[in-house]
Amino acid sequence: MTSDPAGRPEPDSAVTWRFSVNGDPVEVAAPGMRRLLDVLREELALTGTKEGCGEGECGACTVLVDGVPVDSCLVPVCQVEGARIATVEGLAEPSPEGLVLDQLQQAFLEAGGAQCGICTPGMLMAARAYLDDGGTADEDAIREAIAGNLCRCTGYTKIVDAIAIAAGGRR
Ligand code: FES
Ligand code: FES
Repeated sequence: MTSDPAGRPEPDSAVTWRFSVNGDPVEVAAPGMRRLLDVLREELALTGTKEGCGEGECGACTVLVDGVPVDSCLVPVCQVEGARIATVEGLAEPSPEGLVLDQLQQAFLEAGGAQCGICTPGMLMAARAYLDDGGTADEDAIREAIAGNLCRCTGYTKIVDAIAIAAGGRR
């Protein structure tokens, strides 16, 4: 690490950050202002999280930080030291037969809630946070929960249906 005359790390110096991703502890050496999105995709090879706008407008890059959905394109890695990060890769559970999709992923399949798929990981993580927080199948509440996530393909109806199915309210 390089430092300025006062001994502070230079902004572009790599520093080791420790946090967990999908329950596994990780250590990453990166400048503190490196985007969490880039750390996940490029340092940790977790490319399920997508970049859409890169400006906090589309939600494609949504991950959970301590259970709260955030736009990982806006979060510098220095802000997640010690945090619990959840990404789309953590939704499915391993089993002897392979990965088993979680209820939300299953519901997206059932409802046809994905087309090109760019928005899907972010939608899933926003919806995961909504359900983990006790969210119901109420359509207005679901639409509010995914208000920060844009989809160019589906018109949202099937996504809302999928989340409602996962919430146990629609078949
Ligand atoms: Fe982060 Fe669009 S890529 S909000
Ligand atoms: Fe294409 Fe949502 S499925 S942007």
